[in-house]
Amino acid sequence: MRTPVAIVGAGPAGLLLSHLLDLAGVESVIVETRSREYVEARIRAGILEQSTVDLLRETGLSDRLDREGDEHRGIYLQWPRERHHLDFVDLVGRSVTVYGQTEVTKDLGKARAAAGQQIYYEVADTAVHDIETDRPYLTFTDADGIPQKLDADLIVGCDGSFGPCRTAIPDAAKQTWERTYPYSWLGVLADVAPSTDELIYAWHPDGFAMHSMRSATVSRLYLQVPNGTDIGTWSDDRIWEALATRLGHGQDGWTLTPGPVTDKSVLPMRSFVQQPMRHGRLFLAGDAAHIVPPTGAKGLNLAVADVALLAPALATLVRDKDSTLADAYSDTALRRVWRCTHFSWWMTTMLHQSDDPFDRQLQLSQLQWLARSEAGRAGLAENYAGLPIGF
Ligand code: PHB
Repeated sequence: MRTPVAIVGAGPAGLLLSHLLDLAGVESVIVETRSREYVEARIRAGILEQSTVDLLRETGLSDRLDREGDEHRGIYLQWPRERHHLDFVDLVGRSVTVYGQTEVTKDLGKARAAAGQQIYYEVADTAVHDIETDRPYLTFTDADGIPQKLDADLIVGCDGSFGPCRTAIPDAAKQTWERTYPYSWLGVLADVAPSTDELIYAWHPDGFAMHSMRSATVSRLYLQVPNGTDIGTWSDDRIWEALATRLGHGQDGWTLTPGPVTDKSVLPMRSFVQQPMRHGRLFLAGDAAHIVPPTGAKGLNLAVADVALLAPALATLVRDKDSTLADAYSDTALRRVWRCTHFSWWMTTMLHQSDDPFDRQLQLSQLQWLARSEAGRAGLAENYAGLPIGF
């Protein structure tokens, strides 16, 4: 088999890349270790930046997003006895849209299937070869157990942080940075109308809490918990009680309405960057090159921004043999990656409890500055609503 662009991974990054390449007249083949059903059921964050929404609209992927997405002007930031609304539209003229990133993946899956995209699901043993030559190739075992070889002009790793692409770049050619955090999130999906019109990010001495949502009838909530937490120790009653305390039930007449929990899981938090995002004929996009903790909901948005830069770079390289954009890809993408890495770290460390009493005073000082300074709020808003692609 031969294709101009071989894509490893059929998550949102890989699917969107194949869609953008198709629009530019370039064919691709995708391989994915999981099934389509598995990929489309993974629960992810629920916030789309303005640039993500714009891109999905401009490229014909927004039918359901336009019907079901809920535009939010901003967020609430709170700590005991105070809740402040940050209006991103007033502050920076940009908004965000509440639409499950899982739904984006389903919409992409449907669009690619309709376009006849070649996708090998449930493959095993994927390996990349000869990426430093101009004849790179992929090998894998397909769903029927048959070994396959896929020759390509270029290979793109959209295979997340555990896929084979990131590690295929030799140690001597890469640098990595990592930060693990001393806490995790307990995430809850509940069949209950959200108790808030916009997301609440709450600092609390017991630990961070957040109230997000998926629709008018489904809420998504999070609690800071210690690393290694056994989910079995968190009954639904205990979860709702902790959420009520941390989110300020009863404060200024606000109430949290509990409801049936349909899913709960513990999510670790990590920052990670590997650079460069290209080695020879292998390019990395999304989680394959960088991980952010979920505070700020940057993961999928960052993957979309990578792919939006990468598609025209690959298209001009394959079609016109012009490598200008491809040569600039890693440096250009990494500017935005590091900005979002900093923002996600900043939101995380500002809002979560650590054991250090000095940190706690700094956090409260920072939150009070945000509440009282328009410049402070504008900085948060600009980063949260999303910097332009190519920043
Ligand atoms: C979510 O809705 O799952 C969500 C929203 C905002 C975040 C993280 C997660 O910062």
